[in-house]
Amino acid sequence: MIKAIRGTRDLLPPETATWNYVEAIARDVFRAYNFQEIRTPVFEATELFARGVGEETDIVSKEMYTWEDRGRAESDRGQSLTLRPENTAGVVRAYIEHKMWERPGVTKLFYIGPQFRRERPQKGRYRQFYQIGAEVIGPTSAGSESPARDAEVLEMLATLLDRLGIQGWTLQLNSVGCANDRAVYLQALREALKPVVGQMCFDCQRRAETNPMRVLDCKHPEDQAIIANLPRISQYLDESCRQHFDEVKSILDACNIPYVLNDRLVRGLDYYTRTAFEFTHGALGAQNAILGGGRYDGLSEAIGGPKAPGIGFAIGEDRLVMSIPETAASAVRHPDAYIAPMGPGMNKEAARLARELRHSDLVIELGDESFRLKKSLETASKLGARFAIIVGENETRSGQFAVKDLAKGEQVTLSRDDLVRHLQSIP
Ligand code: HAM
Repeated sequence: MIKAIRGTRDLLPPETATWNYVEAIARDVFRAYNFQEIRTPVFEATELFARGVGEETDIVSKEMYTWEDRGRAESDRGQSLTLRPENTAGVVRAYIEHKMWERPGVTKLFYIGPQFRRERPQKGRYRQFYQIGAEVIGPTSAGSESPARDAEVLEMLATLLDRLGIQGWTLQLNSVGCANDRAVYLQALREALKPVVGQMCFDCQRRAETNPMRVLDCKHPEDQAIIANLPRISQYLDESCRQHFDEVKSILDACNIPYVLNDRLVRGLDYYTRTAFEFTHGALGAQNAILGGGRYDGLSEAIGGPKAPGIGFAIGEDRLVMSIPETAASAVRHPDAYIAPMGPGMNKEAARLARELRHSDLVIELGDESFRLKKSLETASKLGARFAIIVGENETRSGQFAVKDLAKGEQVTLSRDDLVRHLQSIP
């Protein structure tokens, strides 16, 4: 038997109803904050991620699905392509390619779609997973660098999680500084790591060389005592980064958005500057980040664009769905009626009636003239339909239909005109 590849999965009903529910609420919230949708390709030039996300990150160095795409003709050159592991680099590429800075104000975009990382699959971690994300980007003159943008994005996320009924989330907040303070900090971190790194785990030893800030993110219990004594970026922020961060926090305070300062939060992508954040949720276990994001003031330049500071986030939709309270599953809409055609030639009549009822926004399931009445009624009940409508020769001729309330067992006879009103009545 051919099965879905490990780390990928089929999303089936009724669970897909919860996914649609989550996406509908997200779209509603994005609309209220004046974000518009962007859809970028699922594969891009490998170089975009190498330069955007960073060669030394786990994502780029170990987790990308990359292949050499052969040219179609002898004369065509091949090209290295990659399934997108995240969407920020693609959105910023599109921003540059379509000169979106020529549009008024800051550009506010959202996306919903699959991302691909070759990670070790476990609960809440897949190789094809889905993100709901948004980016705010633009020229400095449009206010893209303002801490007000950071706070607005965070407040929007709090609103979204609350509207989805997700309780007990925690906003973990940090500032990872900018190019100026980062250099001084990395120097201090390297110095502090030198005498102790030999006692740390293999991953930390590698990170100390390639990407020392990632050491702070190590989950290895034996390394924690050493990490607790390492210098933190918060002690090295320059005056402008400190002020920026203070302003983000003061707007959040003014809006009553709770947060926890976490100066070990460094995030796994290289483009971050200043504000970095994650929203975590206890019920998720080890993979407890529902979403992550932050500011990326130098990303556009890193991939060949103009200065265009930005901030954004991506929600792991798989994890978001896992955190949704049970009641949201009632978003599944069962059929309002099951039409049971009785006898030869009745499929035609049933199809006509179903067409009329569906035009009135009713959910209709259609049986088949070959089914016996008993089978039709049983099927209707199993599908959770509220009513069964019998369409036989007599009914068609008289225009009077037998309508059975499947929960109550009551049956009434109704004209075509009364049918819609009856089916739309509150149960
Ligand atoms: P990220 O932290 O790599 O950030 O991913 C964001 C979220 O995607 C995570 O918090 C998690 O919920 C979900 N996620 C990541 N990997 C997996 C996986 N293998 N399986 C299931 N869910 C996963 C980014 O991707 C950035 N582009 C976010 C961003 C946007 N920063 C600025 N703008």
